[in-house]
Amino acid sequence: MLNKIALVGGGNIGGVLAQELFQRKLAATVAMVDVKGPDVAKGKCLDIAEGTPIIGSDVKYIAGKDYGVIEGADLVINTAGVPRTVRPDGTYPSREELLATNLQITDAVAGAIRQYCPDAIVVSIANPLDAIVFRLHQKLSPPKHRLMGMAGALDSARYRYFVAQAAGVSVENVEAMVLGGHGDDMVPVRSCCRIAGMPVEKFLDEPTLAAIESRTRKAGGEIVGLIGVSAFWSPAIAALEMVEAIVLDKRKIIASCVLLEGEYGVNGLFVGVPVVLGRNGVERVIEVDLTEAERAAFAKSIAAVKKTTDEVIAAK
Ligand code: 2OP
Repeated sequence: MLNKIALVGGGNIGGVLAQELFQRKLAATVAMVDVKGPDVAKGKCLDIAEGTPIIGSDVKYIAGKDYGVIEGADLVINTAGVPRTVRPDGTYPSREELLATNLQITDAVAGAIRQYCPDAIVVSIANPLDAIVFRLHQKLSPPKHRLMGMAGALDSARYRYFVAQAAGVSVENVEAMVLGGHGDDMVPVRSCCRIAGMPVEKFLDEPTLAAIESRTRKAGGEIVGLIGVSAFWSPAIAALEMVEAIVLDKRKIIASCVLLEGEYGVNGLFVGVPVVLGRNGVERVIEVDLTEAERAAFAKSIAAVKKTTDEVIAAK
């Protein structure tokens, strides 16, 4: 158990994270800050705390509109930013279109982390994912192992779910990995997909797999189209998979958005790749042997990440 985990943002994802942190007892104290009024963070935490006698949790909380509540946190989960929302005409923005608004919010978040918990491990969820993590890196310059984004855990879970449904097997039997950026060019790595240790091609044919991979790339948008706003339960649970691996020093391999410094031939970008997560955060980056087609898809995804990252750099 850590002493304190801070949630920045008390929206849909922050709310699920708070519930789960009280349940799973990963920290003695949960902190939540949300600048929205009257006092969303305090209200959400009080609501959960009032149920703790029933679930038997003595986790404490500190919450409010002032960033000071995150002081001394060992780990920060950043969800601050606007989500994708359906427009009146039924269309919705890409994650990249949230950049201008969410960059400003991220700058405030970075300032607060620098002031109140500069040594914390940071797991960021806000979109556009890879660019926002890059911005946190620009502003905080933490050691590589202490800053990461949550995307691969979610995208891989979606891929696993769709494969399990199509193959008619338990989700627990499916192992899969989605790499690259958290945009519509993300790369479901078929050569890493296994059902009970067997290649996925033994269970599903090429057209079925191609359709699943296409659906996986656009799965975030599918949810926006259905509920009118970004997904929140599965992103929160995916972030908790990472946080649990860190807090419990599980050394679990999870696709995470981390700074590449030559790995995969990429330098200076935050990109989703498999890493070993343990008590220090990113313990090790793992380089997957990709097929030629997967390498080409990865290069395309990197180009998309670079484009948005260049916009971050240009924004100063
Ligand atoms: C998603 O893919 C919110 O980006 C997140 O649903």
